[in-house]
Amino acid sequence: MTSTSASSIPTYPTVPLSNGLQIPILGLGTSHHGGYSHRAVVYALRDCGLRHIDTARRYGCEAQLGVAVQGRAARLGVDYLDLYLMHWPDCSVPGQSNREVRAETWRALEELYDEGVCRAIGVSNFLIPHLEELKEDCSIVPHVNQVEYHPFQQPQEMVQYCRREGIVFEGYCPLAKGEALTHPAILRLADKYKRTPAQICIRWSIQNGVVTIPKSTKEQRIWENCQHVSA
Ligand SMILES: NC(=O)c1ccc[n+]([C@@H]2O[C@H](COP(=O)([O-])OP(=O)(O)OC[C@H]3O[C@@H](n4cnc5c(N)ncnc54)[C@H](OP(=O)(O)O)[C@@H]3O)[C@@H](O)[C@H]2O)c1
Repeated sequence: MTSTSASSIPTYPTVPLSNGLQIPILGLGTSHHGGYSHRAVVYALRDCGLRHIDTARRYGCEAQLGVAVQGRAARLGVDYLDLYLMHWPDCSVPGQSNREVRAETWRALEELYDEGVCRAIGVSNFLIPHLEELKEDCSIVPHVNQVEYHPFQQPQEMVQYCRREGIVFEGYCPLAKGEALTHPAILRLADKYKRTPAQICIRWSIQNGVVTIPKSTKEQRIWENCQHVSA
């Protein structure tokens, strides 16, 4: 961790969405695994200049994030969301197929997008057949598909498909939940490039053009994860 002045707060490259908006290539995860640190989120926003926070209702920290971002809390406490994702393609609704439920859910997201409540909409954990069906059933192609992506989980076919279809590919678990950080190959690269193992993983995602959202509850590690992101 370091003390920062306004001029030393980093800015991050962005990736264009198909609707003309830009998404920062580096964000911060807030998964419930490993807990939530309000102090760390505030540090990420204030001292590291991060403007991309990934969360979900099940992570249980929306009210605290509302305070971190806006200084007030009513769930997230924001007037709009930059990006709203459908978390999972499968569900179990009696009497309806998964395809029908996905299409119905996606149409609700399309309405929120049309109303301006969400500036972009996307999906998560979708496979190519799910995206192909959605194209047939609905009118807006997702702006983003968020999928697990790290050196030991490389869904290259999906990455290529998303590029062809104008869908931004966003990778979650970029550190393989921390497990990548002790792998001998990552340790060798860290030694070779004089970076930390986490920096090697994050830079690997970014050099592949993949939006990435490492999580840490520790200020020191958030600072570390934000270094060497630009070319
Ligand atoms: N859409 C989905 O289905 C889905 C699924 C999973 C995750 N996600 C999102 O993706 C985000 C990232 O995934 P993730 O949190 O599962 O895993 P991750 O970011 O790959 O790894 C997080 C783990 O790495 C540790 N860590 C972080 N930086 C470190 C560093 N510099 N040195 C050593 N250890 C470090 C963290 O511990 P400390 O906190 O102790 O630093 C934590 O245990 C989530 O938080 C969530 O927002 C989405």
